[in-house]
Amino acid sequence: MDNYNELSKQAAEILAEQVRKKNDSVLGLPTGSTPEGMYACLVSMYKNSEIDFSAVVTFNLDEYVGLPPDHPQSYNYYMHSNLFDHVNAKKSNIHIPHCKEQDPDLICREYEQEIKNAGGIDLQILGIGTNGHIGFNEPDQFLYTKTHLVELTEETIEANSRFFKSRDEVPLKAVTMGVGSIMAAEKIILLASGESKAEAISEMCSGKVTTRVPASLLQLHREVTVFVDREAASLLKK
Ligand code: GLP
Repeated sequence: MDNYNELSKQAAEILAEQVRKKNDSVLGLPTGSTPEGMYACLVSMYKNSEIDFSAVVTFNLDEYVGLPPDHPQSYNYYMHSNLFDHVNAKKSNIHIPHCKEQDPDLICREYEQEIKNAGGIDLQILGIGTNGHIGFNEPDQFLYTKTHLVELTEETIEANSRFFKSRDEVPLKAVTMGVGSIMAAEKIILLASGESKAEAISEMCSGKVTTRVPASLLQLHREVTVFVDREAASLLKK
């Protein structure tokens, strides 16, 4: 894809197509700066009556632990300000994992059960971290299959500190869908934009699968589409 706008439009179009085909689609949704353009396109499509969210069910990939839902850097806040406040998705159909004082294991188990009860994810949209993470599944010796509590790596804390007033404010933990929860989706679309993602994209598509690059596991999925702009694709072998 030539540029970020094109990538955002195409991703929104695929998501809208999915919802037109199945109005009660179950969507797995990402946060971060990359999908902002896609959400903006979806909001304008909704305003032009090109998409109806009334029966759509959504599950967000992840959420920081320790931020209240109305904190401007929480993914709950992000999703409402970028999408849900502007479209007709039903509140009861929106799922964003949230850990407070409650037992995180219980929250994670319940989240998995809710995905199951909804019939599984039809279309999962993903971003990618500079270290190859998907959701908050960080590079490690092993990865978890199900929704779980995770300690963020230094690289992720550093990368995400741009959204906070200072690095010290970045939460150290998060809840994320596991790689198994992601891989169980019928279809997956991964979006990446900019030079900072070029290495992660090249490693993800290298032909090798390693837990050190969580996104590389997607090579084992039967229906993944990767949308990259020129910069993010710059290290891919021709
Ligand atoms: C965060 C999110 C990921 C996201 C990644 C990339 O860490 N947990 O789901 O893909 O950041 O974010 P950005 O698109 O801002 O580069």
